[in-house]
Amino acid sequence: MKITLRIWRQPDRDAAGSMATYEVAGISPDMSFLEMLDVLNEELALAGGDPVAFDHDCREGICGMCSLVINGLAHGPEALTTACQLYLRHFTDGQVIDVEPWRATPFPVLKDLVVDRGALDRIVAAGGYISAPTGAAPEAHSVPVPRKDAERAFDAAACIGCGACVAACPNGSASLFLGAKITHLGALPQGQPERDARALAMVEQHDAEGFGGCSQIGECTAVCPAGIPLDMISQLNHDVLTALPRGKDQRG
Ligand code: SF4
Ligand code: FES
Repeated sequence: MKITLRIWRQPDRDAAGSMATYEVAGISPDMSFLEMLDVLNEELALAGGDPVAFDHDCREGICGMCSLVINGLAHGPEALTTACQLYLRHFTDGQVIDVEPWRATPFPVLKDLVVDRGALDRIVAAGGYISAPTGAAPEAHSVPVPRKDAERAFDAAACIGCGACVAACPNGSASLFLGAKITHLGALPQGQPERDARALAMVEQHDAEGFGGCSQIGECTAVCPAGIPLDMISQLNHDVLTALPRGKDQRG
């Protein structure tokens, strides 16, 4: 296959960026999208040029590092897929593909396609944890958890923190991410002691980071590789509204 790539190039956080055009030829439809970028970067490096910076780690759809807007869609055109699990067989020979970074005010571009997603880490640090000692696996199993609650928590825990929901949201909201984290811990008995304080602290940090509010458009769920459903934002809203009258008492 031969693919024409139009890629966002930006030398650093403060520099102006622009799209640059590259042709990559002789690539296999069985290659992943990131492997195509590897081929491009090898060619750029051999020619003495500056390789395209992009985030990646596991390349197995589990770490949440890859973060590309491909032809206007976060993680590209395939549903329930991360950019690293996207293969070139989903594109056509000769296609022109635009590749851009996540675009949201709380995700400043560091270089080319790499953005700083530390804002999501700070939201988790604000309240995405439990203080109950859970011990090793045998002790953890000593706390009975109803099957449906365990399933709900497990579904929510599938969020890999990639930030695609933010990139797709016209409001630049991280509500789906937030809803997943709140639902994950709030569904379990061990998550109850800080439940109110968690909801308030995480929303406060979300807003302080500059993420927008949710207006239930649903673009987030359409691009989420983990299939986090919109009703987890309803859970978030429920927990915040329940916590507001009483939650401040729990906060140190
Ligand atoms: S909710 Fe989905 S899109 Fe958002 S950070 Fe989690 S996995 Fe990524
Ligand atoms: S590189 Fe880990 S999810 Fe894509």
